[in-house]
Amino acid sequence: MIRSVVKGSGSALPRRCVSNHELAETVDTSDEWIIERTGIRQRYIADDTETTASLATDAARRALEAAGVEASGVDIIVLATATPDETFPATATKVQAALGIEDCVAFDVAAVCTGFLYAISVADSLLRTGMGKRALVIGAETFSRILDWEDRATCVLFGDGAGAMLLEAEETDGQGILAAKLHAAGQHHDLLYVDGGPSTTQTVGHLRMRGREVFRHAVKNLADVLGETLEAAGLTPAAVDWVVPHQANARILDATAKKLGLDADKVVVTVDRHANTSAASVPLAFDVAVRDGRIQRGDLVLLEAMGGGLTWGAAALRY
Ligand code: UT7
Repeated sequence: MIRSVVKGSGSALPRRCVSNHELAETVDTSDEWIIERTGIRQRYIADDTETTASLATDAARRALEAAGVEASGVDIIVLATATPDETFPATATKVQAALGIEDCVAFDVAAVCTGFLYAISVADSLLRTGMGKRALVIGAETFSRILDWEDRATCVLFGDGAGAMLLEAEETDGQGILAAKLHAAGQHHDLLYVDGGPSTTQTVGHLRMRGREVFRHAVKNLADVLGETLEAAGLTPAAVDWVVPHQANARILDATAKKLGLDADKVVVTVDRHANTSAASVPLAFDVAVRDGRIQRGDLVLLEAMGGGLTWGAAALRY
């Protein structure tokens, strides 16, 4: 059977790390509140020289290097972001140019924090239908640019970064992406959105969130979609080696794992270091756990995310 196999991963963070203490100097908040409610201790914030495309390019280079693949071998780039460098063209085409790839398929996917799950599912479908042999799937964000830095309820939660995976279509008997499930419920638009855009205000806008309600939806939807994905892959929770969740809030990670009956020590947690990096958070956390030796070849890994839309999704893969 032809499947999309993860050949390598990479990630990138901005140079500047901002602690909760530093934030509390300019925002009415405290290190204690942020840690207790979210688990976040610090985040990385892009400077003027760093953009979504530059972070995405750095992450992509590292994924190519880990996979031992030349940039010229990439047929498809799918980049998930809600903070593109420009309204158009797609940030994926900027990454293509920066990597020196003369011709390939390159486009962006917009599903906010669920973006990487949408991107990897689309890339997997394209690879399995023969559109190409290798796909770079990237999640990259500079959410710091759309935050209202006077809204303490949101500005302490997010950070910038990028993560990437190099997928290759291969004849395998069990490796690769085994199942993926995606959802959207547009009627919940007002729970998490940006109050601007080219067609409405002609401005970029700022992120607005009704956090408590998003939280409630997150725990239920994530547990449901993980169950649905495991069932589609013909697996039980006991077969799972690692869960790599979207890193929004440590309490959501705990509650979701508990609902599924999974050990907390099987859940990769980076929210303490990176905060919520939206579409970048799943591939960033995946890359951290591969590079520190936790995720090993042959492991069964579940990816999951939920965000604005509302959107949510999950994927099961054998690394
Ligand atoms: O990535 C997309 C998905 N996003 C999510 O999954 C986020 C989901 N939501 C959450 O993670 C949580 O709802 C938050 C972390 C956003 C908020 O935690 P909460 O426990 O739901 O707090 P809350 O919004 O109900 O606020 C509790 C109190 C309020 O004060 P009062 O009304 O009780 O006096 C807030 O004004 O905490 C106050 N507060 C803060 N205090 C200090 C809100 N933000 C802050 C802050 N520092 N930064």
